Amino acid sequence: MMDIFEKIHRLGILPVVVLDDVKDAAPLAIALCEGGLPAAEVTYRTAYAHDVIQEMKKVKPDMLVGAGTVLSIEQVDSAIDAGAEFIVSPGFNPSVVAYCIKKGVPVIPGTATPSDIEKALSMGLSNVKFFPSEINGGVKAIQALGAPYVDVKFLPTGGVSEKSLLDYMKCKRVLACGGTWMVKKEWIKNGDFKAIEDCTKKAVFTMLN
Ligand code: 3PG
Repeated sequence: MMDIFEKIHRLGILPVVVLDDVKDAAPLAIALCEGGLPAAEVTYRTAYAHDVIQEMKKVKPDMLVGAGTVLSIEQVDSAIDAGAEFIVSPGFNPSVVAYCIKKGVPVIPGTATPSDIEKALSMGLSNVKFFPSEINGGVKAIQALGAPYVDVKFLPTGGVSEKSLLDYMKCKRVLACGGTWMVKKEWIKNGDFKAIEDCTKKAVFTMLN
């Protein structure tokens, strides 16, 4: 069976979702799937993350849904309860990572320095988030940072856009790119799920061409 990291790698792009209302979860899941990216990292930046994850899995059971901005063990439990298949965090939180390992849930902790990466390696992880990517040097930083750690793959997020997408995609150290650019706040606010679907299609097209 394909593991979660392989699934994320094959998708190439991981939409990062911040929803303020659970009613947007179903139409957003449909728009992302129709756009060609049946995946979401639903962030615990709002109180609705648990219900959004649950709703997305209900409406699109085959969609790959994980939890993002997970900062505590309680949020790991909440995400697992909702049906999240993986956990992402912005930084390296040893207790969150240890708890995910204990629970058998794939975890992608945030890193931005060699020390962060070595902490991940010491806990048996080889897939990490690189955050915030653009401000930390983007592809060049990933290449330099990854040079000593040959088996580590990075999920860059933070400032990744359709413009920078191709450069990231060409980099062999990139697991996939994460970002919110296809899930813009104003589109959600205006219920413009067609714009989300179109932007998602455009991102997939850019990635494949
Ligand atoms: C994340 O949580 O991964 C990032 O904040 C997403 O960053 P972006 O909004 O710049 O894509």
